[in-house]
Amino acid sequence: MDLKSEILRMKREKDVLILAHNYQLPEVQDVADYVGDSLGLSRQAAKTSHKIILFCGVHFMAETAAITCPDKRVLIPDLGAGCSLADTINADQVRKWKGEHPGAITVGYVNTSAEVKAELDYCCTSSNAVNVVRAIQPDKEVLFLPDMFLGSYVAKVTGRKNMYIWAGECHVHAGIRPQEVQEKLSQYAHAEFLVHPECSCTSSVMYDVACGDYGNRQVQILSTEGMMNRAKASENKTFVVATETGILYRMKKQNPEKEFVPISDSAVCKYMKMITLDKVHASLRDDKYEVRVPKSVAQRARLAIERMLAIS
Ligand code: 13P
Ligand code: SF4
Repeated sequence: MDLKSEILRMKREKDVLILAHNYQLPEVQDVADYVGDSLGLSRQAAKTSHKIILFCGVHFMAETAAITCPDKRVLIPDLGAGCSLADTINADQVRKWKGEHPGAITVGYVNTSAEVKAELDYCCTSSNAVNVVRAIQPDKEVLFLPDMFLGSYVAKVTGRKNMYIWAGECHVHAGIRPQEVQEKLSQYAHAEFLVHPECSCTSSVMYDVACGDYGNRQVQILSTEGMMNRAKASENKTFVVATETGILYRMKKQNPEKEFVPISDSAVCKYMKMITLDKVHASLRDDKYEVRVPKSVAQRARLAIERMLAIS
């Protein structure tokens, strides 16, 4: 039996739900029950009746599933699958920051460790960050962490002036430079432009759109699942996609008649790519590696995550 069929057999036998992020390798996406963005994956984990969740994504995503599903076993095929953005802040730093802003509301992107989430009032993802911040009383100071590009995007969209933003970034998205964007856009003059809010170009793109610099071109700043939905719904035939290149596989598969162009071939997350089909197989076979979050941390982090799941 080949690896894929063997994985599908074990998945059925062991009552496992396989979740895969949009950036996963094509062959890993193909064995998943659900492929999506951080918010969608958290929602799927929260409502599943399967006994085991095999998380094909990075560590903080599996931790989030372990927090929302304390009665399930959550496995990740490689414990080394981290996130450069989540690593930009730890719980001590959050506590210190909160101490400098008494009474502020803390909003953290889902790309954070469980210990950091335990310090937050709200958790958010790229698809609901704007609505989470809008839900906070206007007179309250907001501490937004850890992504500075998503943070400045949210501040611009909401018009909020009392928002402090942590200076964290994801090495993949920060590496997408405005110059690369301009070059690709002039090469594909009629393409629609899909941008992830973690990109370093996001703030300038918003400014340019506001100034009318993109003329009639469609520009959308969206989470990975938002991009998937837009690619399907739009009448455009060509799209320039500014995020990790893994998403192109699913976009092309769902929209074979459309053309998708990566903004940069080097926008690859090495952590996401650590999850290979071999490791998924070994994970299912040997029930490894279990992701556990200490009860005291999970209890405090759960509230922030539940708030995130309640706001779409
Ligand atoms: P999404 O929530 O948009 O899927 O993004 C997650 C992520 O890690 C982006 O790098
Ligand atoms: Fe983290 Fe960036 Fe990889 Fe997303 S693409 S998982 S933010 S390192």
